Amino acid sequence: MSERAQAEIVTWSGGHFELLHRMNAPEMTEHLGGPETEAQVAERHERYLRIAGKGTGRMFAVILLPGLEQVGTVGYWDRTWQGEQICEMGWGILPAYQGKGIATAAVSQAIEHARKEGARRTIHAFPGADNPASNAVCRKLGFTLLGECEFEYPPGSWMRCNDWRLGL
Ligand SMILES: CC(C)(COP(=O)(O)OP(=O)(O)OC[C@H]1O[C@@H](n2cnc3c(N)ncnc32)[C@H](O)[C@@H]1OP(=O)(O)O)[C@@H](O)C(=O)NCCC(=O)NCCS
Repeated sequence: MSERAQAEIVTWSGGHFELLHRMNAPEMTEHLGGPETEAQVAERHERYLRIAGKGTGRMFAVILLPGLEQVGTVGYWDRTWQGEQICEMGWGILPAYQGKGIATAAVSQAIEHARKEGARRTIHAFPGADNPASNAVCRKLGFTLLGECEFEYPPGSWMRCNDWRLGL
């Protein structure tokens, strides 16, 4: 059995910019259209900083205890999906820290945050059909698999995904 780690999520802040660069590696973005340019990473950081104030979602850094290493990201954001307004959730954990239950713990805390916020009734996640670890996170946390779908990410590029939904 793999070693379990204790993690917590903290709202995205200026000190998390370097973490975003580390998340932008080829192995981290394999299911997400590949690494982004420096300008795209900087824009992403600005979006993550602004989203809480806009009320359209929330982004978090995942922090490992007790040493407070920054090991990943998780968050949720409102979007249009098949003509409906939905809330989507996404996550990533740096390779050196994978397989220790960190994604499961962090996603669970982000779900709890959305639940307490009270503004949304359901959350969707769209892991790639060929991403077993990410699909396992959905299954473990009680999401219901609605089926496969074609998902446009990044804009202009289509990938085969699973549509998972969780009632809050
Ligand atoms: C997906 C990702 C976040 C998982 O992070 P993690 O911290 O390693 O996840 P956890 O340790 O919480 O593991 C979740 C479950 O996945 C399972 N899992 C891992 N790899 C698996 C595989 N190849 N097949 C089946 N299950 C797998 C684990 O066994 C674990 O379940 P368990 O605790 O019952 O054993 C991480 O792999 C990642 O960041 N990948 C790159 C970015 C990415 O794909 N993001 C998701 C986009 S939707």
